Amino acid sequence: MIDLASILETATAAARTGGEILRRYFEQGVTMRDKSAAGGKSYDLVSDADEQSEHAIAKLLRDAYPTHELLGEESLQGGDAGAEHLWIIDPLDGTNNFAHNIEHFAVSIGYYENGRPRVGAIYQPIHDCMYTAVRGGGAMRDGVPVRVSDADSLGRAMIGCGFYYDRGEMMRSTLAAIEECFSHDIHGIRRFGTASLDLCMVGCGQLEAFFEYNLSAWDFAAGALFITEAGGQITDARGEPLPIGSSSVVASNGHLHDAITNITRRHCPS
Ligand code: IPD
Ligand code: CA
Ligand code: CA
Repeated sequence: MIDLASILETATAAARTGGEILRRYFEQGVTMRDKSAAGGKSYDLVSDADEQSEHAIAKLLRDAYPTHELLGEESLQGGDAGAEHLWIIDPLDGTNNFAHNIEHFAVSIGYYENGRPRVGAIYQPIHDCMYTAVRGGGAMRDGVPVRVSDADSLGRAMIGCGFYYDRGEMMRSTLAAIEECFSHDIHGIRRFGTASLDLCMVGCGQLEAFFEYNLSAWDFAAGALFITEAGGQITDARGEPLPIGSSSVVASNGHLHDAITNITRRHCPS
């Protein structure tokens, strides 16, 4: 069995290394490029910050664990999701916030052993805030244990959501689900723009639930463990287990999971 304490130490060191690069670029400014040339959309952005952060993280992880597999959003998309030892990296989650000088963005790093999440580290560099989770060891914010909220009705819920870079059916599905949430007299809907941090907010009891109809493994790999270690629940929009790949995601404090997935399931894009 691999030593999870060492893995956690490496994960947080890697997240801080990437975060420091992001902080520097954020302060000095960086040119954003859209991914449309590569078949993406003009609002799907990337910059030297994303790439340099991923490069530094990958180097640190490869030095520490040369035989481990890396899967990441920029140059590491070819990583084998079925590997025995797998690191899943989003070197800059919240690129759109970053591009608009909004400081709400993060580095997200998850470690999986034989397909199971073992360690997660999500680092918000501007606030120097580190969220960590270790399988069986709980979820922490800056070393302090956190837990999901105890709200057990939608009438007490603040719900986070996200919009994938799709302005068609998926957008309409998201808006329909939001509208149905409001019909249950929820406290409110929030869209913060950084999925990994949205999951941390559920784990810390700030949001009762979060949903998005299409995320990539690097958006939720670390956050999924953070949720379960904080006492919450995370599945896809139909209530099924998450794959290590693209998926809809619903996270909650557990008490509201059925209520939320009843809504997200109904509006799931085909
Ligand atoms: C995005 C953010 C956003 C979510 C998008 C993601 P990126 O990641 O997590 O909150 O709504 O679906 O793609 O592109 O900033 O790494
Ligand atoms: Ca992301
Ligand atoms: Ca990213």
